[in-house]
Amino acid sequence: MIPLHVEQVAYTYPNGVVALQNISFSIAPGESIALIGQNGAGKTTLARQLNGLLQPTQGRVLIGDLDTRQHTVAKLAAQVGYVFQHPEHQIFKRTVRDELAFGPRNLGYPADRATALVTQALRLTELTEFAEDHPHDLLPALRKRVTLASVLAMDTPILVLDEPTTGQDARGIQVIGAIIDNLRAAGRTVITISHDIDFCADHCHRLIVLGGGRVLLDGPAEEVFGRPEVLEQTAVELPQLARLTARLGLPLAWQPEALLDALEARQHQQGQQ
Ligand SMILES: Nc1ncnc2c1ncn2[C@@H]1O[C@H](COP(=O)(O)OP(=O)(O)O)[C@@H](O)[C@H]1O
Ligand SMILES: [Mg+2]
Repeated sequence: MIPLHVEQVAYTYPNGVVALQNISFSIAPGESIALIGQNGAGKTTLARQLNGLLQPTQGRVLIGDLDTRQHTVAKLAAQVGYVFQHPEHQIFKRTVRDELAFGPRNLGYPADRATALVTQALRLTELTEFAEDHPHDLLPALRKRVTLASVLAMDTPILVLDEPTTGQDARGIQVIGAIIDNLRAAGRTVITISHDIDFCADHCHRLIVLGGGRVLLDGPAEEVFGRPEVLEQTAVELPQLARLTARLGLPLAWQPEALLDALEARQHQQGQQ
């Protein structure tokens, strides 16, 4: 298991758009991080720095002790799996099973390990029954899950998921949440980009908030949700329950149990008055 270090990274696209400025943070093995911020904040650009698809114009990214500027994307892919925001940029095989098998085969895993990883990834993403289908024939929500499955099958210590819940129904969101929880329980590092702040609050213990290509906030959920005035700058809303606690004048809470505890404490207090 390996750490990830982003050191004073800036990135300017060839057309002159400055997408990232002075970004620094470290991620320890086993962390589950959410990367949040409005459209255009720089989330995808940052995600692509974490696996060498893009290289910083300034600063450096270290995956363990590998500087992304000095290693091929192929080598870095063994360490960091990246689920693209848009499935059509990732999918290129004619069956779901072949799509999943490409990564582990390409990483040189023995055939039996590759097969076991593909079978497991199909099961975890609930795609087993679609294994022989053409990915492009699947509904968009399932196609997105194919891209997640193909990265799971690569068995990398670090995974970066770019908007994995987009277009998913309630079951799909549950399936993806469980996958993130299990990866983390197994000591893997997961970085999830999402607009779904409730999903982030449920499955990520640390939130990094980007705005205008900079890190605005970086900390545990309770710290980040305690700064609504900063979140506003990048159009991130608090989780639904957190907004409810604010309306009720209760201490900040975003999990049902915490909200019930706060309500009970207030009733208790009122009973004593
Ligand atoms: N290929 C590209 N060429 C030029 N500018 C880009 C490119 N991709 C993204 N950008 C710009 O970089 C900024 C950050 O974009 P992006 O990283 O996609 O943000 P997010 O994922 O948070 O929506 C935006 O201003 C966007 O328009
Ligand atoms: Mg994006």
